[in-house]
Formats: sequence, structure tokens, C-alpha cells
Amino acid sequence: MLAVGTAVIGSLQFGYNTGVINAPQKIIEAFYNETWNDRYKDNIQKTTMTTLWSLSVAIFSVGGIIGSFSVGLFVNRFGRRNSMLMANVLAFIAAALMGFSKMGASWEMLITGRFVVGLYSGLSTGFVPMYVGEVAPTALRGALGTLHQLGIVIGILMAQVHMYSGHLWYGRNHGPAAVLFTALLPRESVFISVNKCFHVPLVLKKLRGMTDVSADMQEMKEESRQMMREKKVTIPELFRSPLYRQPIAIAIMLQLSQQLSGINAVFYYSTKIFEKAGVQQPVYATIGAGVVNTAFTVVSLFVVERVGRRSLHLLGLLGMAGSAVLMTIALALLEKYDWMSYMSIVAIFAFVAFFEIGPGPIPWFIVAELFSQGPRPSAFAVAGFSNWTANFIVGMCFQYVEELCGPYVFIIFTIFLLCFFVFTYFKVPETKGRTFDEISAGFRQTASGAEKHSPEELNSLGADSQL
Ligand code: GLC
Repeated sequence: MLAVGTAVIGSLQFGYNTGVINAPQKIIEAFYNETWNDRYKDNIQKTTMTTLWSLSVAIFSVGGIIGSFSVGLFVNRFGRRNSMLMANVLAFIAAALMGFSKMGASWEMLITGRFVVGLYSGLSTGFVPMYVGEVAPTALRGALGTLHQLGIVIGILMAQVHMYSGHLWYGRNHGPAAVLFTALLPRESVFISVNKCFHVPLVLKKLRGMTDVSADMQEMKEESRQMMREKKVTIPELFRSPLYRQPIAIAIMLQLSQQLSGINAVFYYSTKIFEKAGVQQPVYATIGAGVVNTAFTVVSLFVVERVGRRSLHLLGLLGMAGSAVLMTIALALLEKYDWMSYMSIVAIFAFVAFFEIGPGPIPWFIVAELFSQGPRPSAFAVAGFSNWTANFIVGMCFQYVEELCGPYVFIIFTIFLLCFFVFTYFKVPETKGRTFDEISAGFRQTASGAEKHSPEELNSLGADSQL
């Protein structure tokens, strides 16, 4: 718990910086206007303001795209734990930039700070689920994996409450705590250390809190043996090899299903959405969404090992599609019936709740489950890149598309959600309770069944001798 709890401080930061931009749109816009006025002796134009604001929101994801894509470079070179430790430098730089932006009367500092903390968050969305997946015992991998998402949602909630209390400019973040605790973590995630260090049983005993770790050791030796045969896989190889084609397609699609569900349209813009829906106290409704978000992540945490990843993801996508339709009805009929504003709150809360049941936590941790050691870092880079790119597109375009489509904007997300439902139904296997080895063996079988490859070819790609 200490190891996982420490790792997810990185997730907390990511969540905090996702949520922090929502409520204070008006205050930040006023600040932009003021600085613009001071510098150019003129009021800022509406289009320039929309661009600056969208940029402030979305540049975070540009940082995320670059950060997540670099995950493989870091972990292959420095290992999981040290990579997490190093990334914290970025959190400090970002905090300074954002914290002092008002004093410096500079929106450039604020926007650069958002970019740097995006880099940090992008790195964290690779490092954290990878580390957690690797230190977790098989039977708890989903539950502990969900803690990454729990960290994120608690971060979002903290930001919402913090913003409400009006402390806007402190660029507060949790870098110091992260540094301190990460330094306490076992030297390396255990699956790696089985190959490199002689003190694995010691690390394992410390992690598991028990003296008999033979079953875990056995599983790790298995994976280690497998790994010896398997070389590090680069990103292009991931796409070329028939062995990885199916898992990488699944990883990418699940990441896209998370972002193109429209969740961040809510987390970046809910205050504005509620305002448009005629809600009297939009900030309270936003905080309400944060509370529902956190509560349902906890629900998922407790059921994911029982119900399984696939079923929860399907349920979540379908529920979100239903809620999006409800939201559209509420927004479309607002003029006719006042009480539709309450319906919009119910719809958004349901949307968020269904998100956290499956599409929130599962795509993050399933990447570690779908890939063995060799391709895992590259797979995380590709998955993270897909996630953050989609995040960027939604963050950047939502305002414009909403201006175009009005109340019907959520229909676009409904269509996406239904497509992802169909994909998950036909293509995503259950990974609950299966060891890393069993899961990749499943994909190897599909690969060898679908296409005929020579045993040498499959072996060179990491297949084991059973084939
Ligand atoms: C997921 C998404 C993130 C989103 C959050 C909402 O972690 O990756 O973009 O803001 O869930 O809870």
C-alpha cells in the first residue's frame, strides 16, 4: 500500500491539473484581459480570448502527449522508480511558473506552467500504472491498478474544492511529497529486479508483508525466463509484429474510448455547461460531479476483481451513451421546461458515474496486463500518446463544436461511445485473474492462428517454445 500509495501521488497531480482549470474560467479571463490592457492599452478581442483560454486548457495535453510518448525512453534507461523520482523536478518548475504568473503579470508564464505540468502528467500516466501493475499480486492487479484513477479523481476533486475556496494563484502542487515518498520506495519494481538484483525475495517480502513469497517468486521466475527470450520491443516493431498487433489495437482503442467519451468536456467545461443549462449554482454542481466521480471510482475498485474488466467497460460505455442522450434532451428542452436544468445535473452525474465504473480506470491499467516485459514500455508510450492526443482534441475543439451544435453536442460523443461498445464486445478479452504470461500466451495463440508464421519467426518475436 505504501509503494502504490506513493506512486499514485503522481496521479493526484495529473488530476489536480485537470480539474484546476474548470471553475475559474472567468477569473483567469479577467486576468488575461487586465494584462492585455496594461500592455497594449486596449481590451482583448473575444476571439483572441477564446483562443488564449482554449490554449490554456489544451496546452496541458500537448505536454501530456510529449511526456507520455517519452515514457519508454525513461523507464528503459533509469527504471520505474528512478524515473518517477526524476519527473518531480518538472512539478516544481511548473508550480513556480504558475504560482508567480500573477506577480509577473504574465499569461505566458501561466500557459508555460500548464505545458510543463502536462509533461509531468504525461510521464506519470505511463510510470504509475506500469509500476503499480508490476508490484501488484495477480489477484489484486485490477483493484490496485484502479488506485491510479482514484489518485486522479481525488486530485480533480481537490482542485474543484480549492478553486471554490478562491485560492487561485498558488499553483499548489504536491511535488515535495512525491519526492519524499518516492525516495522510500523499493529500489525497483519487482519484475525488473528479478533479473537485475539478488535481493528480490527481500523486496518482495517487504512489499507483500509476509515471509512466504514462494508463489510470487515462481510467477516472476516464469516471467523472467520468458523475458530472457524476449528482447526490448521498439514502437515500430510493436506495429509490425503480428504478435503485438492485436493487443496494441486494443490498448489504443480503449484509450480512445476513454477520451472520446467526452469525459473531459465535462471536467474542463462543466461549470459552463451547467450555467448554460440554467443551474443556479454551477460551481456546486461541478463539485458534486467531482464527488460522484470519486465515489464511483471506489465502487469500481471493489468490483473490478469480481466482475472483470471487460464487463465493467461495456457497462460503463453503454451507461455513458444513455446519459449523453439524457443530457441532450435536457439541453434541448430547457426553454420549454425549467426543471430540465435538474435533469442536466442528473445526466452529468450519471455520465461521470458510468465513466468511473469502467472507461476511467480500466484503459490505464490494462496496458500493463496486455503486454509482457519486452514490449511493455513501448506499449505504454503508444497508449499514452493516443490518450493524450484525444484529450487534446476534445479540450481544444469542444468550445468551438459546442458553439456550432448547441444542445446537440453530446450526440457526437454518443456515437463514439456506441462504436467503442461494439469494439469492446467483439475484440477485448477478459484479463481478470490471469498472469501476464497467460495473457500474452492467449495473444500468441491468436496471432499464430490468424496468420501462418514459421516457428523461428514467432520465436524471434518472443513466443515461447510451446508453439
Ligand atoms: C481519466 C482520464 C482523464 C480524466 C479523468 C476524469 O483518468 O484519463 O483525462 O480527466 O479520468 O476522472
